[in-house]
Amino acid sequence: MVDDTHFLPFLLQIPATPGEVHLNAGTLSPTPLPVMRAVEALRHCQASTPSSFFFFETSRRIDASRRALSRFLNARPEDIFLLPNVTTALNVVMQSIRLAPGDEILTTDHEYGAMRILLEHVARRDGSTVRIVNLGNCLQDPGEVVEAFRRSISARTRVMFFSHITSASALVLPAQSLCKLAREHNILSIVDGAHAPAHVPVDLNAIDADAYGANCHKWMMAPAGCGFLYARPSLKPKLRPHILSWGNGDYDAAQPADPDAPAPSGPWDLSAGCTRLQYRLEYLGVYDRTPQMVLPEVIGFLDQIGVDRMRLRAGALARFARSILGDIGWVCGNSPHQAMSGCMSIFELPATIDPSTFAHQLWTRHRILCPVTRVGESHFLRVSTGWFNTTDQIRVLASALKSMT
Ligand SMILES: Cc1ncc(COP(=O)(O)O)c(C=O)c1O
Repeated sequence: MVDDTHFLPFLLQIPATPGEVHLNAGTLSPTPLPVMRAVEALRHCQASTPSSFFFFETSRRIDASRRALSRFLNARPEDIFLLPNVTTALNVVMQSIRLAPGDEILTTDHEYGAMRILLEHVARRDGSTVRIVNLGNCLQDPGEVVEAFRRSISARTRVMFFSHITSASALVLPAQSLCKLAREHNILSIVDGAHAPAHVPVDLNAIDADAYGANCHKWMMAPAGCGFLYARPSLKPKLRPHILSWGNGDYDAAQPADPDAPAPSGPWDLSAGCTRLQYRLEYLGVYDRTPQMVLPEVIGFLDQIGVDRMRLRAGALARFARSILGDIGWVCGNSPHQAMSGCMSIFELPATIDPSTFAHQLWTRHRILCPVTRVGESHFLRVSTGWFNTTDQIRVLASALKSMT
């Protein structure tokens, strides 16, 4: 049963293009109107008082946004770095660490392709190896995932890298238990949390990863270009920027003893309110950071709806999708364990369908956006149901699928 009554006023705040169905919060969500108005006001300011906005406004607004996000995710503001996306965040971490020849990075066979490229690059660079935990046999219980990692740890394992929610298979992994396991073995835990904030509860203090990168432009509904890195204090002295700019005048000197010390001030306010490390990692030259400045409005909007309530509706929509697509013969591939299954649903593509063209056809013929994902040799249609989607949109998807198979 999907309850619309509480949500109607909020659904009216979600922009939509008539005739289009977007079931893909897993890539990007729509931007709610109050957030869009906030970002447009900032862009207006930026456009009409360009350099002064950049020199004097940016740092103050980034600071307020960082504080709002820190409260939302239960972390200290000095451990949070606002960056354009999770790709940037996890590149900072992986490009910073140095492994010895023969060391191992332990990861799963369900990681996002771009992250696998990053892990393999780091392994090649350092003469280390990427060792894979096969998640295919761990779908019944989160404890099986922890045991599979435990069995794969060797004396050479230095890093455990895993998604909090896997992209292609929509599996919610037991992030906190995996980070605990890593710590017990003195292994760095690096979490790709791209899909997690506002999708599942994320308490960064409790998860206790060494590093956790994520996007706010997926389930939190921030405008595109808003992601973050959380770094545990013990990891921070190791972090090096992957882009050198004004924050790195001392890049070749010894690493600062206290990365949380205030950044040196300059003639403008570029580093005001930042720690030294935040200025080092976040200042990437001039670009549009307004999406990173509106987290107070993003979180304010989610709080108005009620984050728990929002998740309940998204979960109910996921169950509705699984049931109605099941009725027309689409087989759900999600984990049967409730704790491992969130608001993304995956359905096996029938053998008669060409996986390389199907998502494109769904869009061009029916104006429905759902990606096709791949795990090993299997292909899935991935249906993300955000709280802002509706049962009618899922019915439209079902009837399109019926006509295409
Ligand atoms: C698990 C996972 N990691 C990383 C990313 C990369 O996100 P972005 O392109 O916003 O950096 C994605 C994107 O969908 C993802 O699903």
